[in-house]
Amino acid sequence: MPIDHHLLALFELLRIPTISGQSEHAEDMMKACKWLKHAFEKIGFMSEILPTGGHPLVYAEHLHAGPDKPTVLIYGHYDVQSPDPLREWTTKPFDPEIRGSNIYARGVADDKGQLYTWIAAVGDWLEEHKTLPANIKFLIEGEEEVATHNLVEFIGENQSLLQADICFISDSHCLSEDQPLIDYGLRGIVYAEISVHTFPRDVHSGIYGGNVYNPLEVLAKILSQLKDERHLVTIPGFYDRVRELSREEALELAESPFNEEQIMRETGAKAVVGEVVYSPAARAGARPTLDVHGVWGGYSGEGAKTIIPAEAHAKVSMRLVPYQSADHIFQRFERYVLSLAPDGVDVDVHHLSSGEPILMDRDNKFFKKAELAYKKVFGKKPLYQLSGGSIPITATLKTLLNMDSVLMGYGLPDDGLHSPNEKMSVSMFKKGIETNKELLSLLAE
Ligand code: BES
Ligand code: MN
Ligand code: MN
Repeated sequence: MPIDHHLLALFELLRIPTISGQSEHAEDMMKACKWLKHAFEKIGFMSEILPTGGHPLVYAEHLHAGPDKPTVLIYGHYDVQSPDPLREWTTKPFDPEIRGSNIYARGVADDKGQLYTWIAAVGDWLEEHKTLPANIKFLIEGEEEVATHNLVEFIGENQSLLQADICFISDSHCLSEDQPLIDYGLRGIVYAEISVHTFPRDVHSGIYGGNVYNPLEVLAKILSQLKDERHLVTIPGFYDRVRELSREEALELAESPFNEEQIMRETGAKAVVGEVVYSPAARAGARPTLDVHGVWGGYSGEGAKTIIPAEAHAKVSMRLVPYQSADHIFQRFERYVLSLAPDGVDVDVHHLSSGEPILMDRDNKFFKKAELAYKKVFGKKPLYQLSGGSIPITATLKTLLNMDSVLMGYGLPDDGLHSPNEKMSVSMFKKGIETNKELLSLLAE
């Protein structure tokens, strides 16, 4: 397969290991910002690297279409999640490679390849026409994958800089190579860490076992009480504000191809479980959930070591739906976890990050334009879905700037986001560029 200049450029970006969750990558974050700034300047945009309380972001603009033309904000993120476990990758995560019809690299679908479809489309357009059909701003952040609050603050302080009629985001997926999809809602998230401490240091389990609490067991007991056998979260008040689906939405979701077979095929799971009265698509998009991401403590090295560990920890997150609020749910979670702690054991709950859930206004005229653009390139109108994932900026844009986002992704469901061997289809990358160009031409009308 011949590698064109857009793919070559994308490969350069993919080689920078922009893992936002690991502080040793701070220099790589800056390197990616410089690369992006240069990419924007090359296509004729004014661009700046802007500091935030955390990793910097890249802003770029081309505002020469005139006041009668719409102003559009295009958002993407240059940060990625950690590639571990490394031994499961066929080729190195930051050494992009094309195998078959896919590009393999950490961050290729989430979100470097998808965000680059916009830089490529706008760049091609400018090269051909010298002007753009809309006033265009780019905001490319470096902390999406860690959901820190720095962007909320940044948007609050830069409201006029970011003002636009609509935000376009390509950071999600189509249902297949020929069935496009628009997500009209995203879940929010609350991420927390639970720590259990009993005594200052590990002790001999033969001498003290049978007389003291074991923090790993206390933690396991707490975690096991967060959901019941019906897969419902047991935190008091957790479901209080959950939005009910309209009849149309429930029908739409029931027909979604995101069914049991697809989930088993994509994940390798041998069973699909969840709240019985909801379809898999409704469980993922319209219902809140809770998951444990990691548990650690004690001895897990080679051979036997007979200790009672002094501490144990777990990472837990909850996905939220409209109209739950992250602060409210964190308070409920903390109170409930603390209530499960036995006397004589220190349990604390630490808040790591939050993002609010969001529901878009599907009547927004830009959704119609996105539909037309997709139809032109993919041959089919997009379906609408409530996504289970989270993109925290969307809710911030809505509350602070009253801006809707059109989530038009170019990934595929089996791209393996956050997993080993993440990939993006070369043809989806190209279709993405074409769709964005169609959309640009529709913006002028
Ligand atoms: N691009 C994803 C979110 C996504 C995936 C939306 C698939 C729609 C379809 C995003 O990069 C992501 O992974 N977000 C994190 C946010 C979290 C760390 C706050 C997520 O959802 O886990
Ligand atoms: Mn993403
Ligand atoms: Mn992600």
